[in-house]
Amino acid sequence: MLNVEKVNQFYGESHTLWDLDLEVPTGQCTCVMGRNGVGKTTLLKAIMGEVAVASGAIRFDGTDIVRRRPEARATLGIGYVPQGRQIFPLLTVEENLRIGLPARRDKKRSVPERIYELFPVLREMRGRRGGDLSGGQQQQLAIGRALVIDPRLLILDEPGEGIQPNIVAEIGAVLRRLNQEDGLTVLLVEQKLPFARKFADRFALLDRGRQVAGGAIGELSDALVKTHLTV
Ligand SMILES: Nc1ncnc2c1ncn2[C@@H]1O[C@H](COP(=O)(O)OP(=O)(O)OP(=O)(O)O)[C@@H](O)[C@H]1O
Ligand SMILES: [Mg+2]
Repeated sequence: MLNVEKVNQFYGESHTLWDLDLEVPTGQCTCVMGRNGVGKTTLLKAIMGEVAVASGAIRFDGTDIVRRRPEARATLGIGYVPQGRQIFPLLTVEENLRIGLPARRDKKRSVPERIYELFPVLREMRGRRGGDLSGGQQQQLAIGRALVIDPRLLILDEPGEGIQPNIVAEIGAVLRRLNQEDGLTVLLVEQKLPFARKFADRFALLDRGRQVAGGAIGELSDALVKTHLTV
């Protein structure tokens, strides 16, 4: 579904992604892993068009999207949950969800019922301001907002960061339902090994801007974890 080929990216003089390849097969959950600062978020931003790449290709269903604007990528069916959630604290839950509606291909103008079904707390709190929600509820809101466009590919950057374990488990269960019941393809960054082992089908391990290993999640060996993940 998504193919990243030999992508190089720079912040000024600083070469951050090096000939990076990533394959995200349709219908599966792929987890990007790696220590702090290795370029995981930069890779997702490159896929979303939030940072420019110096060279390489990014194909979504065979179309090279590397020169397309971020909104155009969303319209193609890529939903994005950024690191740190970035919801609008002064807008209500429903207003936050409605932000994504213009990017829907069918021009539907109401929040899909499925989102409230997956996250009942968002229905209960639809009139509350985003900033008044707990961290875990804000993460659910950020995921709901990404789902508003009915994406075929959902990209999440550390959805479990700074959130209570029970909510992390709930989010994991929702991701699994989306994957299994709705056939959604998932690409996520997650540093927590148990979460990755439980929810991902495949992994891609980054170290200093390069992919150092990848494959079926069962192939993520303790030796790889020791060399490239544990501090
Ligand atoms: N806007 C920016 N300008 C300059 N350098 C940046 C910028 N954003 C990130 N970097 C640098 O690029 C490198 C990769 O950062 P990135 O945020 O992609 O890492 P990460 O793997 O997502 O880390 P974390 O696990 O902490 O989220 C780091 O050295 C970081 O300091
Ligand atoms: Mg990051």
